[in-house]
Amino acid sequence: MLTRASDTKLPISTEYIENPVPVDVTLRNILDIWKHTTEFQKLESLLKLVTPRKVTKIVGIASGSMEFGPDDEDCTYRSAMQHSMMITIKESIGKMTDKKIKCYAQDPRYTAVDTWALAEYNCEVLEDPKALLEIDDDCILFSCCPALPLKEITVDFARPAMLIWDRVVDEPNHGRHNPNSTRVQNMIRNEYVCHEFWDLREIGTAPFRSELVAYIRRQAE
Ligand SMILES: C[S@@+](CC[C@H](N)C(=O)[O-])C[C@H]1O[C@@H](n2cnc3c(N)ncnc32)[C@H](O)[C@@H]1O
Repeated sequence: MLTRASDTKLPISTEYIENPVPVDVTLRNILDIWKHTTEFQKLESLLKLVTPRKVTKIVGIASGSMEFGPDDEDCTYRSAMQHSMMITIKESIGKMTDKKIKCYAQDPRYTAVDTWALAEYNCEVLEDPKALLEIDDDCILFSCCPALPLKEITVDFARPAMLIWDRVVDEPNHGRHNPNSTRVQNMIRNEYVCHEFWDLREIGTAPFRSELVAYIRRQAE
């Protein structure tokens, strides 16, 4: 479990290590790398399939901290890449619609520095569970490997125009924290079309070791 100092709120567990690169620099660099990938181009072309004018916000859940991460893997890099994806989705939909698109993010691991760095890109950090309450039919929901039953919560809350999350498989117990229940499987099968934007065999370009795919709501196409 992540332990925080009562005054600074910074993680104090020895299992967590600090990103040696300042968070704003990390985010700026990874954002630049992400914008030059073919995966970004593919994702951008998928956004055109969602009727963009129906999208009012991006909700990003459990994308981790860019400042501190468990030291067993490069979590701060993953986090910066996932936030870069959220930011570019917001920017692309904004350009397509000429509207200001909101972006909300929630993860209990965020530090004040994460919150500040995200605010630079007009991405607002909300306390649990406020970003979950923003999930509605007009949002694009982004999440990779969340440690909460987000798929189950989404089935109850809404039918987002687009879901970018871990592939829903026909195994209810696959995904310890975020199960693919029968209700989740039915929602995806009956109401969404799956699009791949990542060559999942290319480990070098797929930093998440997760089957991240995009689901577009049928009525949103
Ligand atoms: C396995 S990590 C994945 C982090 C990141 N998405 C990645 O792929 O590296 C699970 C994440 O879920 C977050 N999480 C747990 N409970 C949450 C909640 N109620 N709301 C948002 N995020 C939550 C954790 O803090 C952690 O960052």
